[in-house]
Amino acid sequence: MKRFLYGIDFGTTNSALAIYDEESKEIRSTIIIPSLIYFYHQPNTENAQNYVVGEEAITAYLNDDMKGRFIKSVKQILSRSSFTETRIHNKKYNASDLVAIILKELKTRADLFIGQDCRKAVIGRPVFFDDDNVQKDTLAQTRLSKAAEIAGFVDVRYQFEPIGAAFAYEKTLAKKENVLVADLGGGTTDFTYLVLDPEKVGSRERKNDMMANGGIYVGGDSFDSAFMWDKGTPYFGKHTQYEATPGKVLTVPKSLFANICSWEQMNFFNGLRIKKDIEDYYFFSGKNPQFKNLITLIEHNLGYSVFQSIEKTKITLTNADSSMFSYHKMDIKIEEEISLGVYEEVIAKDVARIANYLDEFMLQNSIDPENIDSLFLTGGTSMMGSIQKLFKNRFPHVNLNSGDNFKSVAKGLAYSGYLFED
Ligand SMILES: Nc1ncnc2c1ncn2[C@@H]1O[C@H](COP(=O)(O)OP(=O)(O)OP(=O)(O)O)[C@@H](O)[C@H]1O
Ligand SMILES: [Mg+2]
Repeated sequence: MKRFLYGIDFGTTNSALAIYDEESKEIRSTIIIPSLIYFYHQPNTENAQNYVVGEEAITAYLNDDMKGRFIKSVKQILSRSSFTETRIHNKKYNASDLVAIILKELKTRADLFIGQDCRKAVIGRPVFFDDDNVQKDTLAQTRLSKAAEIAGFVDVRYQFEPIGAAFAYEKTLAKKENVLVADLGGGTTDFTYLVLDPEKVGSRERKNDMMANGGIYVGGDSFDSAFMWDKGTPYFGKHTQYEATPGKVLTVPKSLFANICSWEQMNFFNGLRIKKDIEDYYFFSGKNPQFKNLITLIEHNLGYSVFQSIEKTKITLTNADSSMFSYHKMDIKIEEEISLGVYEEVIAKDVARIANYLDEFMLQNSIDPENIDSLFLTGGTSMMGSIQKLFKNRFPHVNLNSGDNFKSVAKGLAYSGYLFED
């Protein structure tokens, strides 16, 4: 039997697995799936699987008229101590169970490819799962380890995601370099500063080459939430006024709209009390049509499709000066042209948080920009103009490199086999 090792990048938005052949020391294939799970509205007959994973989750969700349970950004619940479990079709799922579903899907597809049951993996983890809180970080790591076990992995090591990205880049180098790696994903932005040396690829002692690691809980999802708050919520009645008591006019609470800006918060509306409040606001607003859109959004579970339109608007702007924010479903009609300038204003606060963190990272680790030989940017969010500008402005004399934005971390993790030699 041949010997294989899997490099697994379990991401907020996308998850990838690189199949590494330990004999030929080569990556044989890379599998990538969106990190999505859909539990059917109607459970299947006994023993059949009640969910689908990846790209198919979207199709199944739409075919089911969006009535079942659609789970996105499951990585973000790893560090959330308030999340213990969720019940779906009379079965309980804790955070590890949900994460295991994604890891298992990747493992099954890869095992099928190699025709073996490979139980050895290097799994990536962000530098911080949830900003700088040690307890939450430990919780997340424990849950991730449990998930790997449930998914069928036995021999597992963990590696920081940006180090994975760095090792993928190292394969392309001809000489030794000091490299600043930035991995900008959906949930987090991670930095690592290290010495890369093509002669050391796969070698045992790499610890001394890692000069600094850091990260912040801001990524592409934060931009989408900011966009929803600024540009989306007015279409769902953010400015609606209602008559609280005769003659007393108030604006509906902003908190309602904070809850439609982040995916995990959408379940907030499941409570009976909040549903009743929303109907009252609607009635006492004189049936405001925009506020009606909020009711439609909640009742028909449209959150995911609205965020798809928001993401599309963002992605178009990576190559264009303006983009249409367009959403048409049921009675909801949104059609607004968004210029790049306006978009950049919407996300300015989050970009500034990344920029400030980068300055802090440089300062705290005493990194002199003069000593950086090159920059390596990866992750979906690194394609954005604001982000490219940020790095070009900070490091005008340093070469900006990028590889495969969605596969490089998984590949680099697969080159981290040295972790097993402790
Ligand atoms: N062409 C693009 N332009 C701008 N943003 C993009 C583009 N393609 C994808 N994105 C964004 O990139 C993010 C996903 O990137 P990626 O797959 O690297 O994240 P992830 O690894 O799943 O997340 P994390 O590493 O934070 O756990 C999403 O926010 C997505 O909207
Ligand atoms: Mg990532």
